[in-house]
Amino acid sequence: MNLLAIENLKVTFRTPSGQVRAVDGATLKLKEAETLALVGETGCGKSTIAHSVLSLLPENADVHGKILYDNKNLLLLHEKALARLRGKDISLVMQNPALALNPVLSIGHQMTEPLIVHLRLKKQDAILTAKSLMEKLSFKGPSNAIRAYPFEMSGGMKQRVLIGISVILSPKIIIADEPTKGLDDRLRGMILEELRLAREMNRSSMIFISHDLNAAKEISDRIAVMYAGEILESGTTQAFFKEPLHPYSKALLESLPEQGFKPVPGVPPSMIHPPRGCKFHPRCPHKKEICAKKRPVFKRTNNRDVKCVLYS
Ligand SMILES: Nc1ncnc2c1ncn2[C@@H]1O[C@H](COP(=O)(O)OP(=O)(O)OP(=O)(O)O)[C@@H](O)[C@H]1O
Ligand SMILES: [Mg+2]
Repeated sequence: MNLLAIENLKVTFRTPSGQVRAVDGATLKLKEAETLALVGETGCGKSTIAHSVLSLLPENADVHGKILYDNKNLLLLHEKALARLRGKDISLVMQNPALALNPVLSIGHQMTEPLIVHLRLKKQDAILTAKSLMEKLSFKGPSNAIRAYPFEMSGGMKQRVLIGISVILSPKIIIADEPTKGLDDRLRGMILEELRLAREMNRSSMIFISHDLNAAKEISDRIAVMYAGEILESGTTQAFFKEPLHPYSKALLESLPEQGFKPVPGVPPSMIHPPRGCKFHPRCPHKKEICAKKRPVFKRTNNRDVKCVLYS
């Protein structure tokens, strides 16, 4: 069953240079207890999707489409209902750990706040709950971490604290936005393990947003490939890595070090004046005449969805 359904989501940002089409008709489904990886090059709209789900978009954004959760379109919810939902039903691990924590409040304060505000726990009980969660997430020395301030922690440690905060209310959905970015291999492994534990503890579903295809392969059940605001392919992670369908997916996999480090040819398109037809066609080795004229629609083949004339 679908826990979350994003239907034809369109988000534009008003800027002095024109309308940025950050999300351009994206459709995605997340099932119960499933991890969906959302991958794609920088600037393709991944974080914008994450922010749309929790209505955290800036003032200059215009949003259309549907985001269905618990029989409600989240895009139509009032702020009060959204505040109840954030963290408790759906939580977000923000992309930038340095900015996501408040520098003047202790880690303990920031971890216990959701428990005190949402669940009305007493401070002492909230601290006990926070410590026990950190232990479950294999955090060494929770008592010291609780007393620390963000500036006393490394980037990796802050990222782990953010994961802790995001799951402290046992949300049904965790959205983790680039949680392994800029981390060395050891920390990257720890973060992935922590996310796995967090997910299993509550049988949560997760949207794992990343540039890191190998991390996506390790952690996800399904994968969706995003390009210039659109989802071009989605399917099981296993099938995707065995045989990617879309030419862009193939190019992405070929850019992995173990596949020869061949960068995706060309440059990402303008998000203000994107190419007509298939947005990937200027970079596509298989392009046909029609690709420059008509935007392809999703086709379902063997339980996989792909947007490309090669499969129509
Ligand atoms: N507040 C904003 N105002 C104008 N344009 C924006 C704003 N936020 C994002 N954008 C633009 O929207 C597009 C999508 O941005 P987004 O941050 O969602 O991409 P992303 O896939 O998360 O990238 P990254 O992998 O670098 O995190 C980009 O072209 C970006 O420059
Ligand atoms: Mg992002």
